[in-house]
Amino acid sequence: MAPSREVRIGLLGMGTVGSGVAEILTNRAPDLEREIGLPVRLCRVLVRNPERRRGFALDQQLLTTNPDDVLDDPNINMVVEVMGGEEPAGTYIRRAMKAGKQVVTANKELVSKQGPSLLALAAERNVDFHYEASVGGGIPLIAPFKQDLAANRIGRVRAIINGTTNYILTRMTEDGVEFADALTEAQRLGYAEADPANDVEGTDAAYKLAILATLAFHTFVQPSQIYTEGITRLAARDFRYARDLGYTIKLLAMASDSDGQVEARVHPVLLNAHALLARVDGVYNAVQVEGDLVGKVMFTGRGAGAMPTASAVIADVIDIAQDLQREMGFITPVIHYDQAKRIQPMDEVRTRFYLRLEVADRPGVLAQITRVLGEEDISIASIIQKEVNDAARLAEIVIVTHTAREGALQRAIARLKRLDSVNDVGSTIRIEEDD
Ligand code: NAP
Ligand code: HSE
Repeated sequence: MAPSREVRIGLLGMGTVGSGVAEILTNRAPDLEREIGLPVRLCRVLVRNPERRRGFALDQQLLTTNPDDVLDDPNINMVVEVMGGEEPAGTYIRRAMKAGKQVVTANKELVSKQGPSLLALAAERNVDFHYEASVGGGIPLIAPFKQDLAANRIGRVRAIINGTTNYILTRMTEDGVEFADALTEAQRLGYAEADPANDVEGTDAAYKLAILATLAFHTFVQPSQIYTEGITRLAARDFRYARDLGYTIKLLAMASDSDGQVEARVHPVLLNAHALLARVDGVYNAVQVEGDLVGKVMFTGRGAGAMPTASAVIADVIDIAQDLQREMGFITPVIHYDQAKRIQPMDEVRTRFYLRLEVADRPGVLAQITRVLGEEDISIASIIQKEVNDAARLAEIVIVTHTAREGALQRAIARLKRLDSVNDVGSTIRIEEDD
């Protein structure tokens, strides 16, 4: 596409994020022009239902339900995709690139599953493809990984990258409420979506971790390769025990690379209550990165919402538009991938564990449980027993183990569940050491 004297944007989607983007493009047009050196104009906006009320009152004439009005318009030189989902967003982005249009997206699902092939197409077509808003909303993460931290070998990434679950866990920690009540409140406040499954099952965090791990370790880490467990099974009593033991419960997204082997997982953890990540509360996100040169750095801020996310989208627009203005061709974001690295199976991961069991309160029960753990080579660090139901002669036991293999722990749990004396294995939470 020939260099242009104007940045002409086609917006795909105008929901939460798209409304924020449209508002900034409209209300801050003079600021953007000053920053970039070229006028920026929102030309067309694709939606499903033009009658819907939106977060920003845009000129109705700009709305269309026909994607061709954006993708086949030769005057539009930049496409901003904020529709979400793999399809038709992926097809539209490919069409835009093939037509020589620059592309910005906030779509974590698409980037996590198809990022390398989209970047390859962008390179082939000599267009830019930016996705800063796909992880951590307004927190700068993608650019720091690609540029500021580029001299480092990244050893580890640990992150709280889902605001909805962090809000729910904070409520459960601070107010002792059960999961269902905290979720209802998150929905009432507009943090959780009507269908919050992707958030509470950990899927949203796995998409974001896949994007970060792919950038950090120069190998394509796909969401399907990430062990993912959500927060739905956590009970208020786990939070009380965690506090007594000096821990806080968080949903962490963790990835590391050692000797060419990548470990990537998303699940609830017990985290030392004094750890930096343990003190990131409410809807805030935080990403801690360990580089061999820089040491530990942490990025934190609002990971979702119209304006924080639009802030990252507009930063990408400015970045690409500055290249347009310089008429210098694009510094195509080629990412060099190493040969595929081995993704460590979850069975091989070694952590400490917290187990909460409901057991019969009678002689010999503890001995049965410790025998099973011993035979699976799992060493116990501490046990707390509380009588919970005197009449039914049931007791609750909380066991904290030393470091053990995941596979061994899962075998032990299966055996414990078969014991007559074990009524229920209520929770199994891995313990994340802070170092
Ligand atoms: P949203 O509120 O559901 O908005 C989606 C928009 O896309 C709507 O305007 C919808 O049209 C339009 N759309 C969807 N499918 C379409 C189709 N097939 N044809 C035409 N239009 C279509 O979503 P969102 O929360 O803004 O999220 C957008 C993207 O940003 C997602 O990839 C999400 O993961 C990402 N993201 C969101 C946040 C956040 O805080 N919400 C943060 C970071 C990243 P109608 O309005 O007519 O229904
Ligand atoms: N649903 C996500 C969250 C926001 O709760 O963090 C978009 O990334």
